[in-house]
Amino acid sequence: MVAPSVLSADFGNLDRDIEMLNESSCDWIHLDIMDGVFVPNISIGFPVLKAIVKKARKTLDAHLMIIEPWKYIKRFADLGINCLSVHYETCPELHDTIAQIRSLGMRPGVVINPDTEVEVLRPFVKEVDYVLIMSVYPGFGGQSFIPHSVDKVKELRKMRKDEGADFLIQIDGGINLDNVTMLRKAGVDIFVAGNTVFTAEDPKACISRMAEL
Ligand code: DX5
Ligand code: ZN
Repeated sequence: MVAPSVLSADFGNLDRDIEMLNESSCDWIHLDIMDGVFVPNISIGFPVLKAIVKKARKTLDAHLMIIEPWKYIKRFADLGINCLSVHYETCPELHDTIAQIRSLGMRPGVVINPDTEVEVLRPFVKEVDYVLIMSVYPGFGGQSFIPHSVDKVKELRKMRKDEGADFLIQIDGGINLDNVTMLRKAGVDIFVAGNTVFTAEDPKACISRMAEL
């Protein structure tokens, strides 16, 4: 599955870019929410999200890079977000946060940063619908893929089997047409891609190609 990241879209032509994603073969649309505290960048908030939700006809996947994300979960649900992921690093009561996301009708996901060990996820893997491995330090699009992320995907796949869990494995950061095949073999189910899709000469063809590789 491919989940283009709107962070790399042209915000002056957001309607056009969301319509392009609607017409494309992408599965999810990935929305990066940053607060300038958990990560050194600020992206979009509720007014822009509202405009995106109104236009989009795909599954909407919001990736929260914010501290105290539980304060806003209901707002994302009310807005019409379908899948909501929170960082392990931001959630001291992660079991509760995951349960809250699900109880509000969204699919819960948990994310770990490049420096966080996969093992910390073990107590949570049967509760989430997807796990996101960050393959760059979160905050910006267009960074290079961190090679060690491949081992983390393999470790996570093994954990899924050992624990009898059935979450999807998502990866985010530095994904391009040259590393997708290797990552799919390692166990990735959902590819988030910003820069690769939106700088492509033909973004729709790029999305289809990525899904085929
Ligand atoms: C980074 C975000 C990513 C970002 C990926 O903090 O979580 O979703 O948009 O961008 P690329 O694909 O350009 O690395
Ligand atoms: Zn993201």
